[in-house]
Amino acid sequence: MDWTALDTAGEAARDRSILDLFEADPRRAAKFAVEAGGLFFDYSKSQMSAEDRDLLVSLYEAAGVSARREAMFAGEKINETEDRAVLHTALRAGDDAVIPVDGADVMPGVRKTRDAMLGFAEDVRSGAYAPGGKITDVVNIGIGGSDLGPVMAVEALKPYGDGPRCHFVSNVDGAHVNDTLIGLNPGSTLVIVASKTFTTIETMTNARTAREWLSRGVGADRVGQHFVALSSNLEKTADFGIDESRVFGFEDWVGGRYSVWGPIGLSLAIAIGAEAFRAFLAGGAAMDLHFRAAEPVENMPVMLALTGIWHNQGMGFATRAVLPYEQRLVHLPAYLQQLEMESNGKSVAMDGTALDVPSGPIVWGEPGTNGQHAFYQLIHQGTRVVPCEFMVGAEGHEEALSHHHDLLVANCLAQSEALMRGRNYEEARARLEGAFEGSELDRQARHRVFPGNGPSTTLVYPKLTPFVLGQILALYEHRVFVEGVMLGINSFDQWGVELGKELASSLGPVVTGEQGTEGKDPSTAALIRFIHLNRG
Ligand code: F6P
Repeated sequence: MDWTALDTAGEAARDRSILDLFEADPRRAAKFAVEAGGLFFDYSKSQMSAEDRDLLVSLYEAAGVSARREAMFAGEKINETEDRAVLHTALRAGDDAVIPVDGADVMPGVRKTRDAMLGFAEDVRSGAYAPGGKITDVVNIGIGGSDLGPVMAVEALKPYGDGPRCHFVSNVDGAHVNDTLIGLNPGSTLVIVASKTFTTIETMTNARTAREWLSRGVGADRVGQHFVALSSNLEKTADFGIDESRVFGFEDWVGGRYSVWGPIGLSLAIAIGAEAFRAFLAGGAAMDLHFRAAEPVENMPVMLALTGIWHNQGMGFATRAVLPYEQRLVHLPAYLQQLEMESNGKSVAMDGTALDVPSGPIVWGEPGTNGQHAFYQLIHQGTRVVPCEFMVGAEGHEEALSHHHDLLVANCLAQSEALMRGRNYEEARARLEGAFEGSELDRQARHRVFPGNGPSTTLVYPKLTPFVLGQILALYEHRVFVEGVMLGINSFDQWGVELGKELASSLGPVVTGEQGTEGKDPSTAALIRFIHLNRG
């Protein structure tokens, strides 16, 4: 794709005042916003002009995104480097959907597994499945997409969580599994081993440690009943000793970071129940319908993506802060980091040539208001521009504490306003008159200037229900998809994680001392020496 026009437009917009854009067009706030399915996405606080948006839409059309989107929904093998379809959308598709892959409809299998998994979740919740007494605690062992989706969603939907307590172990650091299992009763604990491949070293190490713990607690003969596997590798789950009645499988067309909608969401289903889980799926499916039907400018995922492309590839801002004003979305930034950076952090185009634009941005963030007291200083007064993606619910769940929510909303809106407005030298100086004078007044005033003109978007949702969470996650998935197609990359593979994994396994015996450091670079060898010297 030819990015020259976007480069030129982005360059021209760098010194453009957002406030002037509002001044020039009194209807800008309405024109640069999308409302869909009860969500409201505002991208008016950006330097994007109407012409820039036209250009972005023409680039979107030239990239052939809608054809690619239909290919994805139809089950075509758009993950070309792995020769796979990309069908996480099938996991949330309605009961009448028909989606053929290699000539066979995948939906009967999806429905069967969904019913079995939700049936099992209900059995655990009701006590119908009670290997050594009613299950009080569920421990999900997984990493990456087999952890981030469930841990994020269980926390996000805490007000709906009326099932057993859910815990999550991901890090291979023994502290994680140890700290999680301490205090749990093995007899009433269910361990879910969530791993698409069932070979991931962190997950399998933690699973074996949990098996030893359970074995000590309930006896080797009963340990298997406390295990469930979520995996597409049935051979390995059998080798681990998990009975096939408690293995919920999925196909290779569900990518790890897109997998919370299916069996990987079991811990969520146990926490909130089958009905609420189905509402979560329905929210995702509603966003799918909108994404396929709406015209670009009225299409929320498309406009979220085009705003991203505008800020990243157009204006050259390398990072993107995700700032949910919702404490229960504390894990959303990490979830979106994997979704966006594992999908679009690539430098080679689908055809094997080098990417001719920067890859997807660096994504980071924290819930507000906490982030305000940590890193917002840099966002407001640092030398780098950080486009901010705010999100907030119109209502919270704590009815008796609605004054907290009013403050939360006020803070969210204040931040985007402050970023845009800033405070100039004269204003800063006027506020200090009387407190300082002369050159000291000048010096102090300079420290209190906010350059302003900082771009941001704001997503407002009614309330963080299971349905709304489903909408938000599907919104971001499709945003990543659109950006990926426009960049010309494959958003569905992750070869970039392989080298570190390979080197970690070759370094294992060096760390234990079974092998020497020959062949290792001097820095790594020195680090190993220091570690060995400091071991008791
Ligand atoms: O980090 C690479 C990765 O393959 C992710 O894409 C995936 O979500 C994670 O590891 C876990 O993989 P698995 O579910 O196979 O254990």
